[in-house]
Amino acid sequence: MKIPEHIAIIMDGNGRWALERKMKRTYGHIKGEEVFRNICIHAHDLGIGYLTVYAFSTENFKRSPQEVNAILGIIKKYLDNCCEMARENGFRIRVTGKREGLDDSFAASVEAAEKKTENNKGLNIFIAVNYGGRDEIIRSVNKAVSAGRTPITEDVLSSFTDIGSSAPPPDLLIRTGGEKRLSNFMLWDIAYTELYFTDVLWPDFKAEDLDEAIRYYSHRERRYGNTL
Ligand code: FPP
Repeated sequence: MKIPEHIAIIMDGNGRWALERKMKRTYGHIKGEEVFRNICIHAHDLGIGYLTVYAFSTENFKRSPQEVNAILGIIKKYLDNCCEMARENGFRIRVTGKREGLDDSFAASVEAAEKKTENNKGLNIFIAVNYGGRDEIIRSVNKAVSAGRTPITEDVLSSFTDIGSSAPPPDLLIRTGGEKRLSNFMLWDIAYTELYFTDVLWPDFKAEDLDEAIRYYSHRERRYGNTL
């Protein structure tokens, strides 16, 4: 099986999963974080180099304060506790997205997790928080202009994105939860990414579902605009 080097995931369906069980939406996010940890281990075992997950979009701030605080709290707790697991598995953790709008203690957790895992050589995990694809493009352009890197070329812009030169563009993007849209995720990076949509809700997503997505990817012919 052809293993993608970089997989991006839109982890959708937590709310519906919880409501189907007559639970609060936040229960779906708690379960979603457990699934995220399992999928990181499976991805690492498969030899995937990079995993980027959409954990909280700039638009998610429109949700109720309870849900916003719950999701950010779950992510913060993961960042605060992840280092043990990261040490065992060699995961390197980084957070993409806009730092403004996140409180200081969250920003401190991000910095600490990034610092503590910076020498790890296993799976590279990028967690997108307060992330929007259009916002990232604008921020990248402004950074390039401030650095005097005009005229801006594709290579210049690519080097100023949140992931920048730290990872190749995603080979495969998975969206769970049945919707077939990109919801402002990694718009610059996914120009040639294979897209895989599944009805499985994120809290139900298992190692076998990741295998299924990779099998789908293995059969795709990637031509990058060229002919066969
Ligand atoms: C989308 O489902 C999911 C989110 C907005 C939050 C995702 C966050 C996690 C899974 C926690 C991840 C934790 C770490 C540490 C990465 P939704 O709530 O929009 O679901 P719905 O479409 O069913 O309403």
